[in-house]
Amino acid sequence: MSQSPTQRIAVLPGDGIGKDVTAEAVKVLSAAAEVWSLPLEMVHLDWDADRYLRTGETLPAGALDDFRTNYAAVFIGAYGDPRVPDMKHAADILLGIRFGLDLYINLRPVKLYDPRLCPLKDRTEKDIDFVVFRENTEGAYVNVGGNFKKGTADEIAVQEEIHTRKGVERIIRAAFDYAVRHGRREVLMADKSNVMRYGHDLWQRVFAAVAAEYPGIESRHMFVDALTMQMVLKPETLDVIVTNNMFGDIITDLAAAFQGGLGMAASANLHPGQTSMFEPVHGSAPKYAGTGRANPMGAVLSSALMLDTLGHAEAGRALEDAVARAVREGQTTPDLGGSLTTSQVGDLLARTVAATARS
Ligand code: NAD
Ligand code: IPM
Ligand code: MN
Repeated sequence: MSQSPTQRIAVLPGDGIGKDVTAEAVKVLSAAAEVWSLPLEMVHLDWDADRYLRTGETLPAGALDDFRTNYAAVFIGAYGDPRVPDMKHAADILLGIRFGLDLYINLRPVKLYDPRLCPLKDRTEKDIDFVVFRENTEGAYVNVGGNFKKGTADEIAVQEEIHTRKGVERIIRAAFDYAVRHGRREVLMADKSNVMRYGHDLWQRVFAAVAAEYPGIESRHMFVDALTMQMVLKPETLDVIVTNNMFGDIITDLAAAFQGGLGMAASANLHPGQTSMFEPVHGSAPKYAGTGRANPMGAVLSSALMLDTLGHAEAGRALEDAVARAVREGQTTPDLGGSLTTSQVGDLLARTVAATARS
């Protein structure tokens, strides 16, 4: 049998608990790679706040071309350091990779693994199981705008949102394609088109046109403010949600709470067929850095999405099952009510994954 080609993964732990959770995700990934003989090669890159403060460098010149050509995926822990209040390095690296690699799909699954983790009354695994497709390359994140009379009493700040027909269409289409592939019932598009009469009206028109091409999938529109209430009151009605960059950011932190908190939320930044990036939804939580309290499950679930995307669906499922089992057994960090440390959870998940493959 011929050897499958190596899949190189750039591992960027980043700052704070990003380092802690990435170490565990790598531990679990390495266990999976060993037992399933996956052709993964992980290359660690120390592009963190320390390095930025020392050298002034953020995303090195040529890095994106290198990723495009020589890497199958990028894995990121988290960025953010109190010593860099403007988030310069985080913006250059994290948003630089999302935008630079044109990773237009930010896929954020919302899944409850144990009812005890859900702060909503009487909700079970059956009620919390939906997916958010967040547009990831435009909207309010384009950094277009400026100041006039900055620092004076007459100061004006302008911050633009950009919505392109192509950009809106491809994320909506991705949501419908996902619904078809995964046997989902409905795609719900959330905007604020009652107020944003240009940008979000474009979303409305494109959504109607694309929805018409998918007669087998129901389509529904909600204003995002109404959606947030629906999320809390009737989460069981949600299936696939598609929305713009900023609204997707906000509603996925709310959704993370349904799953047990930010420590449980996973994400994939995708451009099908190209080098993609995977990261937990949470940030660098500086107060927990190095304390052993960070929950590595969101990072591990993000690496499960990565394995699935790289064609290792069975291994990806094993990682998810290992997380689900640890949660059910109360083998967790304190944010989920357990008493294990970050690395104890990683050790346990790695052992479970290895045992699954052998059984
Ligand atoms: P955060 O996600 O870092 O933390 C918010 C709170 O959520 C924490 O105080 C903690 O109570 C909890 N939490 C988050 N992750 C956890 C985990 N793995 N285990 C247990 N508890 C966890 O958000 P923040 O405090 O608003 O931001 C801190 C820094 O991270 C800022 O610099 C921010 O800009 C940055 N940030 C980065 C990303 C990213 O890299 N993708 C995402 C969000 C925030
Ligand atoms: C996220 C984060 C980022 C975002 C920040 C850190 C730039 O909140 O990944 O959800 O707003 O996209
Ligand atoms: Mn966010």
